[in-house]
Amino acid sequence: MPDWLLYTGSRRPHDGVDRLPPPPPWRAFDGGPVLPVPPGPSGNAHQATTYRPSDDAVQQVNAALYLRRPLLVTGPPGTGKSTLAYAVAHELGLGPVLHWPITSRTTLRDGLYQYDPLTRLYAAGRENAPTDEDIGRYIRLGPLGTALLPHRRPRVLLVDEIDKSDIDLPNDLLTIFEKGEYEIPELTRRADPAAEVMTADGPRVAVTGGGVRCRAFPLVVLTSNGEREFPPAFLRRCVSVELRQPAGEAELSAIVREHLGPLADQSDDLVRRFFERSSSGTLATDQLLNAVYLCRHADTDDRRALADRIMPYLTGPIDDD
Ligand SMILES: Nc1ncnc2c1ncn2[C@@H]1O[C@H](COP(=O)(O)OP(=O)(O)OP(=O)(O)O)[C@@H](O)[C@H]1O
Ligand SMILES: [Mg+2]
Repeated sequence: MPDWLLYTGSRRPHDGVDRLPPPPPWRAFDGGPVLPVPPGPSGNAHQATTYRPSDDAVQQVNAALYLRRPLLVTGPPGTGKSTLAYAVAHELGLGPVLHWPITSRTTLRDGLYQYDPLTRLYAAGRENAPTDEDIGRYIRLGPLGTALLPHRRPRVLLVDEIDKSDIDLPNDLLTIFEKGEYEIPELTRRADPAAEVMTADGPRVAVTGGGVRCRAFPLVVLTSNGEREFPPAFLRRCVSVELRQPAGEAELSAIVREHLGPLADQSDDLVRRFFERSSSGTLATDQLLNAVYLCRHADTDDRRALADRIMPYLTGPIDDD
């Protein structure tokens, strides 16, 4: 394994990220005061500890970490795009993954922060309302807003299914990632813009001057199923990797064994069947995992028929049963 790789895909936690060199001068950020990364597991424990990345994915994750650039992960369903974020956070000890699922209604503001004026109004109208109002109690940073806090080590932000977004979101995101900072106008409009705001997954943090500026640029994993082409300006600012289905039976068998341990014994016939079928249409790795698990427990003479029912084509020929 080349020395420069901090994330190696070993699935064993280590502190290799401490060897991350300073950023290129055009990607240096100096936000503060510095915050520790909240402790805790990355989330999705089983997925994070069983993931076997391709060599190309390992290399591009490291490129994104070194260059402080978002990582755009594309590929067919079930090739492990989302899981990659959890696997990196687990191995490098980068704390809980900040998960931001994207839909056509998601806006940049949803990811940055939410402000709840109604509760604030209600609280202000109550008898004995505090006069020294604590506006930070009504502002909660979202996954993106939290990832850009001035953490000592990069947080992992999973922007999941960016291709489902409204047309403007990718460019809005790029602007934020270029600057590494954002403002909270509800704070900057006040005479005293300092506040202690809530975050997506940790204790409240002090925001001075009404804005947030990052320190260690987060590892941003943007996943896409390819439902959308991204503009060149977007692609230029990302490191990209395309994930594929495992190329051979040995690789796929290793993934099955990683997930199922001894339950994967004698599953070669199903792995072979998966490959036979995937030459005619799209199948996903976790369909095979389900088939192996079920065939191990089901009392049937016709494993192949059962497996075929559990592995219907996602796109391609319609099964004729
Ligand atoms: N290389 C791999 N090693 C181990 N497990 C894998 C690998 N690739 C996929 N899997 C497993 O397949 C399942 C699907 O992975 P995941 O949800 O990350 O895929 P995805 O590409 O994000 O799919 P979608 O496009 O549907 O969101 C998970 O259970 C994951 O653990
Ligand atoms: Mg996914």
